[in-house]
Parts: sequence; structure tokens; C-alpha cells
Amino acid sequence: MQESWHSTFNGGEVMKLKIVGTGSYLPDELLTNEDLEGMVETSDEWITTRTGIKERHIAHEERTSHMAIEAARRALADAKLDPKELGAVFCTTVTPDEICPFLAAYVAGAIGAECMAMDINAACSGFVYGLWTAAAHMSLCPKPVLVIGAEHLTRLVDFTDRSTCVLFGDGAGAVVAVPEEGMLGCKLICEEDKDGSLVIPGVNHQMDGQLLSSYLQMNGQAVYRFATTVMPKMVQAVAKEGGVDLDDVRWIVPHQANIRIIETSARRLKLPMDRFFVNIQHVGNTSSASVPIALDALNKKGLIESGDLVILAAFGGGFTAASALLRW
Ligand SMILES: CC(C)(COP(=O)(O)OP(=O)(O)OC[C@H]1O[C@@H](n2cnc3c(N)ncnc32)[C@H](O)[C@@H]1OP(=O)(O)O)[C@@H](O)C(=O)NCCC(=O)NCCS
Repeated sequence: MQESWHSTFNGGEVMKLKIVGTGSYLPDELLTNEDLEGMVETSDEWITTRTGIKERHIAHEERTSHMAIEAARRALADAKLDPKELGAVFCTTVTPDEICPFLAAYVAGAIGAECMAMDINAACSGFVYGLWTAAAHMSLCPKPVLVIGAEHLTRLVDFTDRSTCVLFGDGAGAVVAVPEEGMLGCKLICEEDKDGSLVIPGVNHQMDGQLLSSYLQMNGQAVYRFATTVMPKMVQAVAKEGGVDLDDVRWIVPHQANIRIIETSARRLKLPMDRFFVNIQHVGNTSSASVPIALDALNKKGLIESGDLVILAAFGGGFTAASALLRW
């Protein structure tokens, strides 16, 4: 893997970002491993042991914007913030309702925000990229920012392809951030996925005159190798940047793609699994919504105390990877 670290800090100055509210939305409908047994040649035992996933939420009627708006409203309520005070709305997604209007425009309109809004696509690392963008934005415009990761991935999954359809789910997670000290470090990397290991073709994508499938296509083993290499590196790098010892970090909130990726990362970091927040068994992989959904669950369970150190760590298509070190 190419070492292409990009520091967030300009001349050593720490960007200001503190999370003051979280929210999430998961559709009511569940697709269990037993349901999948009736759809493709698979088993609960295979899915559980290879991925850690038991069930995932499925959006049918709900568009991505519906999930994003609900998560945003919950985060604003948690922060007790009037949306008119926002300086920006950033949505991270690979599954907007439409390419244009983009997702953040729907959210900003629905919540009554009076500020700029835009989407960010860095695949499953998108939410952490969004936090960095929020911190950068707040350094120029010191007003609260809403960052939302929202995905309707199951509409891009081929439910006849057992190698991908068991992995993904739908949902949204959101945070309200203010320009106060709270982010001690942030690392973002991107390197080209030259072999096309994780691809969601655009609609009407053509090659040699043929209309190609727009379903998600993945080389699971290549992505697995990238993830298990990059995740521990990103965690270590951001702890080093923030000048903290990993033993002092209360929680690592990893992208929920596969429990084996999280367990391998824990082993490589020589950290016990109880430091990693895991909800993959109930949500599956929700791409850029994964980290904020997990963060909201952790927060709402009352498991993070003021002053705790928390590392968010994600990886995804592109390829991308990202980590952020937060003082809660
Ligand atoms: C997808 C993933 C779970 C597959 O696990 P794996 O241990 O690598 O499994 P393999 O791809 O080697 O497949 C092993 C066997 O299981 C089979 N298999 C694949 N999916 C199956 C399923 N749902 N049920 C039963 N068998 C399945 C394969 O066909 C293969 O059979 P074979 O040995 O007869 O050829 C794993 O590679 C992974 O998690 N990769 C990362 C994916 C990811 O995180 N993507 C998102 C990134 S943001």
C-alpha cells in the first residue's frame, strides 16, 4: 500500500471540531440471514462466521433522503440546535436519491437550514472525510455544521449474487459539530483502485456498446486485504498525530464491514476487542452511514463520557481510508 498520509493540520494548528449531538435512523424492515437462505444458496452459519452479520435493515419506501432527514433531525434535537444556526450541511453518500438534486439539498430544505450544503463521496470512508471537511469549513466560518452519512445500498445489490447480497444494509447517522476543541487528529488517504476491486457503475454505464450492470461488484478478498492492512495503520497514525497512547483510547468505532476485519485489526494493534464498538450483527455494512450509526448507538447507550478519547476508523472503495481522534 502506498504511504500517502495527508495531515489535517496546517502549520501545526489544531482544527476545531467538537461533536455535540448524534442521531441515526434505521428502517423498520429487517432482512435476516434466515430470509437470505430462502433467496440464495447460503446459510446463517456461513454468513455469521465469515462476516458477523445476523440481520440488516432494508429501506423499501424510504429514500436515502428520508433516512438522512430523520437522522439529521435526531442529531439536531440531541444538540438542542436550531437548524437556522447551521453554517453548512454535508451529506456523505454513494447512494443519493438522484445525482441532482444532491442529497444535502434535500436535507437542508427539509430541516429549514439557511446555509450552504453539499454531498461528499469517499465511499465507506465518506463520513470521516465529512468530519474533516466540517472542521475545515468551521475554521473559515465558525458556525455549527451538520454531517450526515446516509445510504440505501440494498438498491444497488444484486440479490441473486450471494457473495455481495449478504453484506449490506440501509440506514443513516448524523452528528452536529461545533467549532470547539475536540478533534485531536484526522488522517485521510486515497489511492486508486486500479483493479476495480470495488465498483458501483453509474447508470447507463456502457462498454463496447453494451449496457453494463449497475449493481455493486466486488473482489471480496482484495478488499479484505486492503482493509486489514489499512485499518490498524490509520488507528496508529491518528493516535500518534494526536500525541495519545492507544491504551488511553476508550473506544474505537470502526467501519462495520466484517467482524473478522475488526478482530484482525484489534490483534494487529494488540488491543482487546472490548475497546471496539461493534453493531455489525444488527446493521451489516451501511457504507458511509456505518460509523455515524455506530457512534450514535454508543452515545445513546451512555457508553461515552465527557473527556473520553474516541477513534473513528473507516476504509472503502476508491480506495480510501480515514481516521479521526476525538476528545468527547
Ligand atoms: C466477502 C467476504 C465475506 C468473503 O469471505 P471469504 O472468506 O473471503 O470467502 P471467499 O470469497 O474466499 O469464498 C469462500 C467460498 O464461499 C463461497 N461463498 C461466497 N459467498 C457465500 C455465501 N453468502 N454463502 C455461502 N457461501 C458463499 C464462495 O463461493 C467460495 O466458495 P468456493 O470455495 O467453493 O469457491 C470477505 O472477503 C470480505 O468481507 N471482504 C471484504 C468485503 C468488504 O468489506 N466490502 C466492503 C468494503 S467497504
